[in-house]
Order: sequence, then structure tokens, then C-alpha cells
Amino acid sequence: MVAPGRWKRAVGQTVVLVGLGVGAGVISYWGIREAPPTAPPAEREPSTPAARTVSITMPHEEPVPPLGPNRSTFQTSCTICHSTRLVLNQPPFAEERWRKIVEKMINVYGAPVGATRKEEIVGYLTAISARKQLAGMPEGGEQAAIGRPR
Ligand code: HEC
Repeated sequence: MVAPGRWKRAVGQTVVLVGLGVGAGVISYWGIREAPPTAPPAEREPSTPAARTVSITMPHEEPVPPLGPNRSTFQTSCTICHSTRLVLNQPPFAEERWRKIVEKMINVYGAPVGATRKEEIVGYLTAISARKQLAGMPEGGEQAAIGRPR
């Protein structure tokens, strides 16, 4: 036979344990229940203007190559890798210098230009260089001359 005092203690302990269990259940349900919807954080102006990201689009203009013999060969072969401007901004070189440059493009950089086209291009660049020299264009080419009175 169990003493009545021990019974009471056992019942009391059970009540406390069940109570703790229910309490823990309620608390954890509270934790996992769907969070109430919160408003998205309002977009704030950054405190300093320097922290703002700004983007601009730079104008991109390619010069039109001047008319001359075999201009289209030049246009199709020499603007694959770089701008037209890079070529047209060179000083008005003589034929040999242009040939060396075109050969460098072919042999060093792999420009897909055969022997016939190579001569056409050298001829075109030499012709427009000669015209620039006749027109008294400064070293630096077409772009340097923009805005100058003729
Ligand atoms: C396969 C790619 C390619 C092709 C096609 C090409 N080039 Fe180039 N070119 C280059 C590279 C690479 C440079 C070096 C660019 C740099 O230094 O920023 C260059 C530079 C130049 C320069 C600047 C001066 C120098 O000697 O570096 C000139 C002028 C030039 N090329 C002319 C031409 C001409 C004319 C043609 C047509 C025959 C041509 N390029 C075709 C790749 C090419």
C-alpha cells in the first residue's frame, strides 16, 4: 500500500509536468504559426547623395569612312575587331607604313584578309591619307580636324 502523502506528491508532480507540456506546445505553436503580413520596407532615399547609383549612356558615334577606291573592302575587313575610328584617327601615313600596319593586323592579330584584299585596303588607306595631307589635315586625322574652318 502506498502512503497517502506520496500519492498527493505524485499527482501534484503529474499536474505540473502536464502543465509544462501544454505550455511548451502552446509556445512552440505560437512560434511556427504563419507570421502576420508585414508591409515591405519603404524605399528610402539614401542619406547622402554620393551613395546613390546613377547610370548614364554615353553617345557612340562611328565616323563614316571617306569615299575612296575599295572603301567597302576596308569597311568589311577592318572593323571586325575594333572601331573604324581607331583606324581613321591615325595620322596620314604613306603607303609603306599602311602596308606594315595591315600586315600586322593579318599576321599578328589574325585579320581574315587575303593578298588581293590586302592591297585594296592599303590602296584605300593611302588614298584617303594623301587627301588628308592635301587638305592640310593635322596629324591626328579626321577627329582632330572637326570644328576647324575649312
Ligand atoms: C583580328 C582582329 C583585327 C582585325 C580584323 C583588324 N585589326 Fe587592327 N588591331 C587589332 C588589335 C588587337 C589592335 C591593337 C589594339 C590596341 O592596341 O588597343 C589593332 C590596332 C590597329 C591600329 C592601331 C595602330 C596599331 O598599329 O596598333 C590600326 C591603325 C589598325 N588596327 C588598323 C587595322 C586595319 C587597317 C585593318 C584591316 C586590314 C585592321 N586593323 C583589322 C586587331 C584587328
